[in-house]
Amino acid sequence: MKLDRFISNNTPHSRQAARLLIASGRVTVAGERVCDPRFEVDQFVAINLDEALLQYRPALFFMLHKPVGYLSATSDPEHATVLELFAPELRDELHIGGRLDRSSSGLLILTNDGSWSRRLTEPKVKLPKTYHVTTLRPISSETAERFAAGIYMTTEQLTTSPAKLEQLAEYECRLTIYEGRYHQIKRMFHAVGNQVVSLHRESMGAIQLDPALAPGQYRALTAAEIASVDQASTSS
Ligand code: URA
Repeated sequence: MKLDRFISNNTPHSRQAARLLIASGRVTVAGERVCDPRFEVDQFVAINLDEALLQYRPALFFMLHKPVGYLSATSDPEHATVLELFAPELRDELHIGGRLDRSSSGLLILTNDGSWSRRLTEPKVKLPKTYHVTTLRPISSETAERFAAGIYMTTEQLTTSPAKLEQLAEYECRLTIYEGRYHQIKRMFHAVGNQVVSLHRESMGAIQLDPALAPGQYRALTAAEIASVDQASTSS
């Protein structure tokens, strides 16, 4: 939003009066005087008119070690949700950037910054997401080739982006995918005649699940982790 519109929306001043106030140097954005009425401001920056603070909403970014059994939803009549693991004052603010199934565990990212979380999940950004997978049947030697070629999904009528499978044991692999379609990994294994027994997300782009977090614990993302998503989306 442009600064003059922000001032007129959040004070009794008209748009024209707002432009004059800005041009006369009475408005600061993040502590810096801004005299250009067309300056773009986002929803999280501190904006002052003289001494009055008109807006300040901190941007929030967290990683949660999601335990199995919790639903990736804000509320649900039947199941416990991941939001219930957060302090009550944070629950109404946060949304999930890239869900996990109730039976899956691992890295879940929550934020109140919608444009940042879109960059995290947008298929065209092709952010790699890595999972530790265990299966019901032995992982065949063809599975890696089939996943690298892409699996056709009948519901969406599309082929998944090439995925990278690293075999760790007969029933165990590390799988990297570049989208996050509904039940994607379960459906990919189903397509090759196998079945997922457990699924644990280890990383999203450069953000890795912190090994210090026990299931159910969360911590704020670091500035470098937050910036890594912006870097990934500008280079895509
Ligand atoms: N793919 C799945 O099938 N489930 C998940 O939770 C994540 C990816």
